[in-house]
Amino acid sequence: MRRKIVILGATGSIGKSALDLVERSPERFEVVAVTAATNSEALAEIARRTGAKLAVVADESRGGDLRTRLGGTDCSVASGEVALIEAATMDADLVIAAIVGCAGLRPVMAAVEAGRIVALANKEALVTAGDLMTEAAERHGATLLPVDSEHNAIFQCLAGSRREDVSRLILTASGGPFRTTAEAGMREATPAQAIAHPNWSMGAKISVDSATLMNKGLELIEASYLFGVPSKRIDVLIHPQSVVHSLVEFVDGSVLAQLGSPDMRVPIAYAMAWPERIETPAQRLDLAAIASLDFADPDTGRFPALRLARDALEAGGSAPIVLNAANEVAVASFLAGAIRFTDIASVVERALAGDGGPAPSSIGEVVEIDRNTRERVRDMMKAVCT
Ligand SMILES: NC(=O)c1ccc[n+]([C@@H]2O[C@H](COP(=O)([O-])OP(=O)(O)OC[C@H]3O[C@@H](n4cnc5c(N)ncnc54)[C@H](OP(=O)(O)O)[C@@H]3O)[C@@H](O)[C@H]2O)c1
Repeated sequence: MRRKIVILGATGSIGKSALDLVERSPERFEVVAVTAATNSEALAEIARRTGAKLAVVADESRGGDLRTRLGGTDCSVASGEVALIEAATMDADLVIAAIVGCAGLRPVMAAVEAGRIVALANKEALVTAGDLMTEAAERHGATLLPVDSEHNAIFQCLAGSRREDVSRLILTASGGPFRTTAEAGMREATPAQAIAHPNWSMGAKISVDSATLMNKGLELIEASYLFGVPSKRIDVLIHPQSVVHSLVEFVDGSVLAQLGSPDMRVPIAYAMAWPERIETPAQRLDLAAIASLDFADPDTGRFPALRLARDALEAGGSAPIVLNAANEVAVASFLAGAIRFTDIASVVERALAGDGGPAPSSIGEVVEIDRNTRERVRDMMKAVCT
């Protein structure tokens, strides 16, 4: 029996890597639904190639174009948020959640409430609704499989262990393109420099997050919800080679790590085939050629986003939602050339300073806090940015 797969965010970096794996193992996987935000041209090409039964574009104004492009095929076409949820809850064995940002929250939650196995790349969904999502997964018998390479590494290291035997999680971080750049240089950093990640090829938003280390901050929050480990027992370790993807320390002092070349197809394949493993084209690790691996503590002076994310996790309540929403707005502004690279963390810090709200009790409340924060941040942006 082939595994039926829905790919939310099929036109993105993770979506394309997942499709590459599907095409390498057509006897194992069948794509039944694919979605995108606006890119109807790429989505139509993917739907034709895979023979998907449903293609959804979130932007309603692109629905007509998608319908025209898929004319003459058996693929149903739809647009808008309700249709995204229809795709997320379609009869399938696995939902790959690869939408970027909080925009993925409702579809991911719908897949969880439908009791699906969810391969989760969309970390912002868990950052903004961690407790609600893990509780819903438990209630509806859904399984959350981490796709983020660090969380996937931890998931692999935890296999066969008792949770009470875990003493620490250690998330590795490459340090991004500005790992050794002085603060003055970071202030002048351009979007092109910020998205030029030294080890990974990724979408623009996560690439900027990697450059500010907000990505590691979001991952810290993600790890806490996913593995039920508090902030004080999760460390971040700078590791420029991105070979050790993360580590778990146990109570007896043993440390397990997962290693591999930096290729997202490895963690994606692990989630797609789980609990089995499949072959991937990833380059095999040659440790003798690499010769040495480096590790260092992060510099939270030059990279305040990491400290802000840890503070938000420890504050709880609405803070992780505010952190994420402010970051999404600030990153988009930076990419549009409206603010400086170093303004991103300042904007997030200002947004968090005016917050102290209670934890949301529903996804509707999460969406409301997200929307209010975006409005507040846009209003204050001009005052902060220099
Ligand atoms: N890339 C990586 O290596 C990597 C690694 C670990 C984790 N992740 C996480 O995986 C997620 C996806 O990252 P990515 O790098 O693949 O991003 P990406 O290349 O920017 O792709 C994002 C995908 O989401 C769709 N999308 C964007 N906004 C949307 C909206 N408002 N509604 C519905 N769909 C929307 C995009 O459609 P269009 O093409 O039409 O815009 C695209 O299919 C992120 O949460 C990221 O943090 C990525």
